[in-house]
Amino acid sequence: MGIVQTLTDKKKQERTVEFTSLIMGKKILIATEKPFAKVALDGIVNILESAGFEAVALEKYTDKAQLLGAVADVEGIIIRSDKITAEVVDAAPNLKIVVRAGAGYDNVDLEACTRRGIVVMNTPGQNSNAVAELAIGMMIYMARGRFTPGTGSEISGKTLGIHAYGNVGSLVGKYGKAMGMTVLAFDPFVADKQIFAHDGVTEVDSVEELYRRSDYVSLHIPATDKTRKSIGQSLLSLMPKGGTLVNTARKEVIDEEGLVKALTERPDLKYATDIAADLQAILNEKFGTRVFATQKKMGAETAEANINAGLAAARQTVGFLVDGERKFQVNK
Ligand code: 3PG
Repeated sequence: MGIVQTLTDKKKQERTVEFTSLIMGKKILIATEKPFAKVALDGIVNILESAGFEAVALEKYTDKAQLLGAVADVEGIIIRSDKITAEVVDAAPNLKIVVRAGAGYDNVDLEACTRRGIVVMNTPGQNSNAVAELAIGMMIYMARGRFTPGTGSEISGKTLGIHAYGNVGSLVGKYGKAMGMTVLAFDPFVADKQIFAHDGVTEVDSVEELYRRSDYVSLHIPATDKTRKSIGQSLLSLMPKGGTLVNTARKEVIDEEGLVKALTERPDLKYATDIAADLQAILNEKFGTRVFATQKKMGAETAEANINAGLAAARQTVGFLVDGERKFQVNK
């Protein structure tokens, strides 16, 4: 037994030495135009370095050329909303994995990565709470006339429509219920329909019904070829008097011309977004306090969300490069 133990230990040691020499000095880039909180970055670096990788951070970069230069010798990249285009992929001959520390991966050219055999992952659910809290905060902000003097309204007693019932949408529903709202949801992609009854949420049959019945609609659809510009005048004009659309998803899902038309025709409608519209200057000028956009996307901008998503991204990067784990791969 003693000898077996010794041999096993020796083998383990040899394997560790072999493995360590394989990854020693291999670089993982943390590319964040919008940086993680320091506490999160420190945690990410610690996970990567403890596994034997060299962690390199490129933060607040202003030029694509900086990213192209930084990827030249890396095995993995951890990103937020940073764009991994075909050009970035071409500039990274050693790249094996891209992990989007967050939910949406519309900023990654999946085809270009797949062609090169590069694994792409996201970290689903890790920053959802921060986004859900912001969505509720924006509802209250709009209900109270953006905190300007005058009489506002309460969200309690109103109907909240959740457009896409995933990690963020279901949390917004939960918080909406806690605030006394009636919660409806539309999401044909939810496989387990029991979840709605379980959560005390009413599933509606069509997206039109959702907008027709909801005082507030909270948007959580991803930006895909199917959803781009899918929310516009026809849906918004169905909303009840005083209806408010809250967008913490993506600007691309909004048909902005249609939004302008809806807000023009219906002086009671409001739009709050965490991702400024391309036409935001026009929206602000024409509709004043009926529209609101954060200065820079801030849904996931909490220390907690940065830690959760960032550390998950670091663990997934190590898990793949060391053990071949692919649980959260999105380009299968
Ligand atoms: C996401 O898709 O996870 C959110 O939009 C957060 O994006 P961010 O990391 O750029 O803040």
